[in-house]
Amino acid sequence: MSTKPVPLTARRNGPLKGHARVPGDKSISIRALILGAMTVGETQIGGLLEGEDVLNSAQALRALGASLERRGGGAWRVHGVGVAGFAEPRAALDFGNSGTGSRLMFGAVAGCPITAVFDGDASLRKRPMRRILDPLELMGARVLEQAEGGRLPLKLKGASDPIPIEYESPVPSAQLKSAALLAGLAAPGETTVIEREATRDHTEKMLIHFGAQVRIEPQGQGGRRITLTGQPELAPSPIAVPADPSSAAFPLVAALITPGSEVILDGVMMNPLRTGLLTTLGEMGASIEYLQRRNEGGEDVADLLVRGSPLRGVEVPAARAPSMIDEYPVLAVAASFAEGTTVMRGLKELRVKESDRLAATLALLRGNGVEAMIEGDDLVVQGLGGTSGRAPGGGLVTTHMDHRIAMSALVMGLASDKPVKIDDGSFIATSFPGFVELMRSLGAELS
Ligand code: S3P
Repeated sequence: MSTKPVPLTARRNGPLKGHARVPGDKSISIRALILGAMTVGETQIGGLLEGEDVLNSAQALRALGASLERRGGGAWRVHGVGVAGFAEPRAALDFGNSGTGSRLMFGAVAGCPITAVFDGDASLRKRPMRRILDPLELMGARVLEQAEGGRLPLKLKGASDPIPIEYESPVPSAQLKSAALLAGLAAPGETTVIEREATRDHTEKMLIHFGAQVRIEPQGQGGRRITLTGQPELAPSPIAVPADPSSAAFPLVAALITPGSEVILDGVMMNPLRTGLLTTLGEMGASIEYLQRRNEGGEDVADLLVRGSPLRGVEVPAARAPSMIDEYPVLAVAASFAEGTTVMRGLKELRVKESDRLAATLALLRGNGVEAMIEGDDLVVQGLGGTSGRAPGGGLVTTHMDHRIAMSALVMGLASDKPVKIDDGSFIATSFPGFVELMRSLGAELS
């Protein structure tokens, strides 16, 4: 886990050029380990993200009795203990910075007759867990101890006889949906989650991949109803993890706002519930070509050819938020270099990410000479593309233990007039180990 702050500085330095593959998708990597650990037999995984968030989930699964072997270069072997087969851990499970790891594991533990303590770093200890625990308590799990407001550290007692439920999610959260479905694996009969807005569907797809019966039906305007038949015997099946579109977003935006750039990003996942940023950048005039569209391991992927492009401000509808929820900070950076105003609507959920990302994004922009404001749940950015052409920069950005704020600030510094500094780049390793080296290989100046 990160201990010592690592200050970093990004400076403008000619166009970005070259070819790169960003690490494996974080959401899929964490799910692959958890579901692998809930099957009977050996699951082989290729291209796993070996970031700290994923490694912390691996450690937790080992403490629960599964066997996980790291074989090098993203190849892993997982020997699962079967549905509801986890053993009681001797010590607290430490999820570090990872909301996804901790929340999905709440679901996996909730369906087992064991008690486990969940903990994490100072950022994770601030994040709301109640929303995840509500459906799990309806299924029979009990919270024995918790910090104020239903936060970590938290002791969860799983249900001996989990009850299947039908649950309408009050927030658009793939983590909530996934936790309920993972607990539902241990319950007899059908567990249903209804979401008013569709969120990333990796858990459902992977459950199907492992042989579970899952029905996905449309619900209202853009929502979904997901029904899982409980107590399946999950069968191991290999998983190839595609490149993470949320990580690709950083070199992609860096190339767009650096004139003359030409960068190819290989094998980026094109799941439509994750590509809201690409849609938005397309509307802003970004030159992105989708080469070699293909299916890899059940997901559509493409190589993205990105060229430095003049961008224009747009209005991003709230309905698009679930498909780009992690990409708003870096979109705000792109918007700073666009001509005209960009309005991003419906960003309430950004307040409960690894930091209050809405506030941190505003501070990042303002601290580097970009005019921006928050109006209700919307973020408004005045682009500088029509005037000076780029952001002034020169700021020192406080990253609040948030990897995506750190990378977004560095991307801004690669194209702004003056360098941009961040107080701590150590949390970048939670999702994007090798970020600095990858960006340097494209010509970025980071020190
Ligand atoms: C994730 C879901 C999203 C996202 C997070 C990963 C997942 O969180 O922000 O980075 O893998 O399920 P919410 O479920 O809180 O929206």
